[in-house]
Amino acid sequence: MNFVEHPKPITTELQREIDQIYAIQMQNVTKDFGTVRGLDGVTSGLKQGEITVLLGLSGSGKSTLLRHLNGLHQPTKGHVRVLGQDLAELNKKELRNLRREIGMVFQDFNLVGPMSVLENVCAGRLGSLRGPRLTLMMYPKSLRKEALEQLDRVGLADRAFQRADTLSGGQRQRVAIARSLLQHPKILLADEPVASLDPVSSHQVIDLIKQISREDNLTVVASLHQVQLAIDFADRIIGLRSGKIVLDRETRGLDATTASSIYSAVSATTEAKDPHSRVTTGAR
Ligand SMILES: Nc1ncnc2c1ncn2[C@@H]1O[C@H](COP(=O)(O)OP(=O)(O)OP(=O)(O)O)[C@@H](O)[C@H]1O
Ligand SMILES: [Mg+2]
Repeated sequence: MNFVEHPKPITTELQREIDQIYAIQMQNVTKDFGTVRGLDGVTSGLKQGEITVLLGLSGSGKSTLLRHLNGLHQPTKGHVRVLGQDLAELNKKELRNLRREIGMVFQDFNLVGPMSVLENVCAGRLGSLRGPRLTLMMYPKSLRKEALEQLDRVGLADRAFQRADTLSGGQRQRVAIARSLLQHPKILLADEPVASLDPVSSHQVIDLIKQISREDNLTVVASLHQVQLAIDFADRIIGLRSGKIVLDRETRGLDATTASSIYSAVSATTEAKDPHSRVTTGAR
């Protein structure tokens, strides 16, 4: 598979080199849901350790794209390559193993409300433990210790034994982040991680994800609605409209004019005019 147009057919060796740079590669990914086209010819490579934000209006394909990265959706056409593996070639067990390397964070946190914060974090490792865990004491001691360390990292060690449903939204999302870290992921997918939070909590959660990404060389792909937050947070912004990439650019050196072109590029009616933003409007 070859996500950048190459003059020559790609060799195994070259593919290996590309895999070392790009944690995620999408080649002409198209997804049809019956007559609705969710993604339309998406081609991009996301670098190891970088933070990419997906921007776009409701229905533009952000969640659909994220679901292709952990194999929850299979493309109708095209290829997705994650951590050096073509998802279409994986059997169930291989896909399960790959998913352990991919942490997920959601808008609604997905915590178990009546359980303690620490139990919720421990549950992050359930994918690789055998058998059900009905109480905290059924998790190995080493795991409980690590869960506490991850909670400390997100600033919530003192809340370990509090019920999860007594926390504020921002705190819940930080617990969800600690839970996903217990998996030792190489990739973190975050679908609107701050959509339910106030601006202050949003910034705290975004700063935390950024700090962890830098410390752990974690590749992050997050969907957001706020352009300014995306510019502050991301190394790279991908704008989607009707399932198509309409903008794909680094945030480094972004000036106010270009920033405003991002607003237009991802909005429904206006096209971005900035020649550096690699905006495409028609068929790719
Ligand atoms: N399982 C599905 N069945 C049918 N259509 C779907 C399905 N999932 C997504 N779609 C359609 O694909 C398009 C993209 O949806 P998607 O949920 O990816 O958008 P989004 O950018 O995440 O929007 P939002 O900001 O509202 O979360 C929409 O037209 C949606 O209705
Ligand atoms: Mg969505």
